[in-house]
Amino acid sequence: MVLVGAAGSGKSTFAAGWFTPDEILSSDAYRASITGDAANQGATRAAFGALHTVLARRLRERRTAVVDATSVTARARLALLARARDAGVPAIAIVLDLPAAVVLARNSGRAERVVPTRVVERHLGELRRSLAGGGAALADEGFSNVIRFTDPTALDGARVIRG
Ligand code: UTP
Ligand code: MG
Repeated sequence: MVLVGAAGSGKSTFAAGWFTPDEILSSDAYRASITGDAANQGATRAAFGALHTVLARRLRERRTAVVDATSVTARARLALLARARDAGVPAIAIVLDLPAAVVLARNSGRAERVVPTRVVERHLGELRRSLAGGGAALADEGFSNVIRFTDPTALDGARVIRG
């Protein structure tokens, strides 16, 4: 499962509500485990290297894996889709396509690790471009299901039911 959304959109909050810590593969958590700082962008390559290694292993073992990173670019998503394809498992995208005002307010209201507004705006633009082809855009990349939330209330009301 791949969460897709700008910094501050609520990906980690959603993941923590529905998945166990071992199921959540967070780029920020890997940055923190490598450097002690979840915001250390200098550790991005190493963090994603670790994330991909654990992701491949979990998928091989048929364990649920929820990737908690922005994944707002096709390039980032295609790398994750390759892991699912290698393991022969379906990939589901959960897209937090919430109003920019909501995302910016959530980001600036954080107690720690407020992301610069221009970075959040860049993410919002990348997400918008990712979805520009319409509802099928992410499915065309290779996701078997794309669940898109445009309304924060709908996201709050969502339930994850495991098969
Ligand atoms: P998150 O920290 O969950 O966002 O929420 P994120 O998408 O994972 O952000 P990055 O990519 O790691 O930077 C951001 C803020 O929004 C609040 C959270 O409490 C947090 O302060 N939030 C989240 C809400 O107020 N309501 C929600 O439904 C979700
Ligand atoms: Mg997060």
